[in-house]
Amino acid sequence: MFHRPELARKLAQQILHVSPTSASSSGVFLAAPRRTGKTTFMRHDLTPALREQGAMVIYVDLWEDPKADPSEVIVAAIRGALSNHEPALLRLAKGLGLGGAKVGGVEFSLDRIGLGKDVSLVQALSALSETSQTIIVLIIDEAQHAITTPAGNDAMFALKSARDELNSNQFGLRVVCTGSNRDKLAMLKNSKDQAFFGAPLINFPPLGEAYVKWFCDHTDDLPARLDPAIVAPLFLRSGNRPEILGAAADELRFDFTLEAEGLNERFVAAVESQISAANDDTMRVVHSLTPIQFAVLCVLAAAGEKYAPFESATLEKYRTAVRRVSGDDIAIEFPAVQQALAALQEKSLVWKASRGVYAIEDVALVELLRGHGYLEQL
Ligand SMILES: Nc1ncnc2c1ncn2[C@@H]1O[C@H](COP(=O)(O)OP(=O)(O)OP(=O)(O)O)[C@@H](O)[C@H]1O
Ligand SMILES: [Mg+2]
Repeated sequence: MFHRPELARKLAQQILHVSPTSASSSGVFLAAPRRTGKTTFMRHDLTPALREQGAMVIYVDLWEDPKADPSEVIVAAIRGALSNHEPALLRLAKGLGLGGAKVGGVEFSLDRIGLGKDVSLVQALSALSETSQTIIVLIIDEAQHAITTPAGNDAMFALKSARDELNSNQFGLRVVCTGSNRDKLAMLKNSKDQAFFGAPLINFPPLGEAYVKWFCDHTDDLPARLDPAIVAPLFLRSGNRPEILGAAADELRFDFTLEAEGLNERFVAAVESQISAANDDTMRVVHSLTPIQFAVLCVLAAAGEKYAPFESATLEKYRTAVRRVSGDDIAIEFPAVQQALAALQEKSLVWKASRGVYAIEDVALVELLRGHGYLEQL
């Protein structure tokens, strides 16, 4: 795997040492498109860098189990950290008047920690902070998922209280949230009713030329060397997604007639075909939509953060889009829009926050629709 230790070290420093004029003690939000290496970086570069600088790291991936409520996943991660740290458990048990004799055994069960349980998340994190005497960093991967359920929202507020408590009285708590969609992540911090109001939202730097060079160095099982100068622009065109390059290299690996001569040209063709295969796949789903679903998708994609699903101006736009795709001029009513949004969610094209705010699931789709001219005049 290709590592970015320098980026990790700088980011860790930024997270841990907050300037008194910065809002980042509220948390830091990192956004980067799908499949570009966020999780890999968080786990294998950032986590070790934070630990090296003396922090305790708790990592939570809200996509790990898409069926579980995000609040449960967050609580489970905090319980997990506690179960590795007996002094904190002892303290919590004492707080409950259990004497702490049988921690981890009969008397104190981790089930007692959670939202609305005997031990709140604030108490749990405080105990961890006090007994470990270190700053705690909670990394929440795919954090936007937290605001898709009411309990998830509650968990974010519990974390905010914990952050305030630990930052003012103890060794500090930093919450680092990542996600693949800037619009969605922004919802976690833009509104005053959100737990992490005002936290900075940073575009997480994609893998670049150093990765491409590493990739070329590590495809030495091919009959000739790939040229980084040729691969770099291809990587950019593939949306900085390592898997596209990897799949193209595999295509060549399994071609047993392959020769050294013309290898780079073959690789270019393989990457191009990977890119269009990925796009064709998405467009097949789009083309299977009903005219109204397609119209709602395009209007949402064109509006982005400003999307207001049921305003009269928006209803007119649906009408325009439906006319364009089917030739039918029909008035679009509320229930039809609601149904279309539900169907689009079902197909994982559209995402909904629990407050009823919508976003396109994958930003790459917006570009694809725009490229086909579907968003013009919407
Ligand atoms: N530094 C790296 N070196 C080599 N391969 C990488 C690196 N980073 C990512 N990859 C590869 O790219 C793919 C996507 O990586 P990863 O899952 O980390 O991305 P992500 O942005 O978290 O994706 P998602 O949007 O699905 O959460 C994986 O197959 C991974 O192995
Ligand atoms: Mg990920």
